[in-house]
Amino acid sequence: MTMLLDPNKLPVHLAIIMDGNGRWAQQRMLKRIVGHQRGAETVKMVVEQASLLGIKYLTLFAFSSENWSRPPLEVRALMTLLKKYIRQETARMMRKNIRYNVIGNRSELPADVNETLDDAIAKTAGNTGMVLTLALSYGGRQELSRAAAHIAQDVIDGTISVNDISVDLFDRYLDTGGLPDPDFLIRTSGEMRISNFLLWQLAYTELYFTDTNWPDFTINEFHKALANFQSRERRFGLTGDQLSQRGDLSNE
Ligand code: IPE
Ligand code: IPE
Ligand code: MG
Repeated sequence: MTMLLDPNKLPVHLAIIMDGNGRWAQQRMLKRIVGHQRGAETVKMVVEQASLLGIKYLTLFAFSSENWSRPPLEVRALMTLLKKYIRQETARMMRKNIRYNVIGNRSELPADVNETLDDAIAKTAGNTGMVLTLALSYGGRQELSRAAAHIAQDVIDGTISVNDISVDLFDRYLDTGGLPDPDFLIRTSGEMRISNFLLWQLAYTELYFTDTNWPDFTINEFHKALANFQSRERRFGLTGDQLSQRGDLSNE
């Protein structure tokens, strides 16, 4: 069954915290890495669906700054899986006109992973369809402190002055500079937290949580989440009356 989605009311930018791979595997007496492998299949489905639906920006939390503290064997397996995924999928990204982007502290990633990423980013740089952003070695606090340091350095160098510092300027110094803020955030596996993802950018994002573990997240569930987004009234601090007046104006 497919849900009826209004193509004019989709999130421009969709962000996803893909969680629950480990538990999915452990519940089946499998190794955690098998859960990550199955999770990669869900990634393929979501990327394909999002691009088909015409979502402009898809951002996936794939590996957090804090995930480096997991057992080294799991970290290594995740890096290998990431490389394999990027290599395998680049041809499909070309066919679907999808452009790769990465946010996070890339200097912490292994050299071979960075080479694979550079290659995929360069190959897809001219694509004009969906922008697929992978958050890798990403932490919101780390991103904010890097941006603050960068701004401070530019003030010292004289390229900007203290009075130039504003919300818009800060935005441009973040890893996500150039991307609109997410309209919708999905987190799987039942955890109701942000886990250091996009702290600044999520200020007015609509949040959606499902108990389903990431490897079990299906097309139907994806459409159900998007339908839920379409039922929401986003206010941005205004009153309901102000919003309906605006709606009247935009319908004229
Ligand atoms: C999400 O699944 C993938 C990564 C964080 C890399 P988890 O590995 O966190 O799965 P759980 O939360 O342990 O079930
Ligand atoms: C968040 O999931 C990071 C990713 C999905 C990559 P975690 O599993 O690391 O988050 P916590 O530890 O449950 O908060
Ligand atoms: Mg988890």
